[in-house]
Amino acid sequence: MAAKVSLRQLPAKESSVKIGIPLKNHPLFPLPAYFCAMELSQDTKNILGLQLPTDPRWVNLAEKSLEDILTDHAYCEQKAASTCITLIQRYSEKEKLVEDLAPVVTEEWGHFRLVLAELHKRNLKLGLQRKDEYVNKLLAFQKKGGNREDRFLDHLLTMALIEARSCERFKRLSEGLNDEYLRNFYRRFMESEAGHYTLFIELAETYMDKESVRRRWKEWLNYESQIIDSLTIRGDRIH
Ligand SMILES: [Fe+2]
Ligand SMILES: [Fe+2]
Repeated sequence: MAAKVSLRQLPAKESSVKIGIPLKNHPLFPLPAYFCAMELSQDTKNILGLQLPTDPRWVNLAEKSLEDILTDHAYCEQKAASTCITLIQRYSEKEKLVEDLAPVVTEEWGHFRLVLAELHKRNLKLGLQRKDEYVNKLLAFQKKGGNREDRFLDHLLTMALIEARSCERFKRLSEGLNDEYLRNFYRRFMESEAGHYTLFIELAETYMDKESVRRRWKEWLNYESQIIDSLTIRGDRIH
């Protein structure tokens, strides 16, 4: 189904920014039914292949640190935009990647501005960027030397994983926050990040054989579950 939705409260200058790309199912990496049907009551255990679900009580912590969680979310969006630019610079010979990621840069930066607007609306301030332990640990798993194509695959799968985990966290917020406006706000981010997850997997399969992608993706999922297990859950962090 198409998930091109824009937030009702989109700032005027942002009116052309979409908050989601079309959600597409994928034969190897199926989106859970509720992403297509938007039935939000199902368990998140197997969301996008993630091995460890987030403790639902994380939402209660996040709710108590709204300025921090919105600040952290804003920087997550900024980093998503920056990383897409980096991928375009680094792999400029891959035409489909450039074509597909160029609009995602705009979309992610639009997300940053939406979160910034939400902070300002609530008389909250964008704080300092924090050390991103989750992402740093993921980066440590990327292949550093050797084959350029292997490194390329890891770049794409790192992005897919961050999108998947963000999507799962946004789902938690969309279900558990007391503020109805924020629940809808996060539901739309959830839809958008699910679409990005699919896009990064599709790009990987465009340039590499599906079996290699599937094999490495499983390794990433296992590694990510160890990271999630090792990190203290904090209400001031999206990850
Ligand atoms: Fe985003
Ligand atoms: Fe995203």
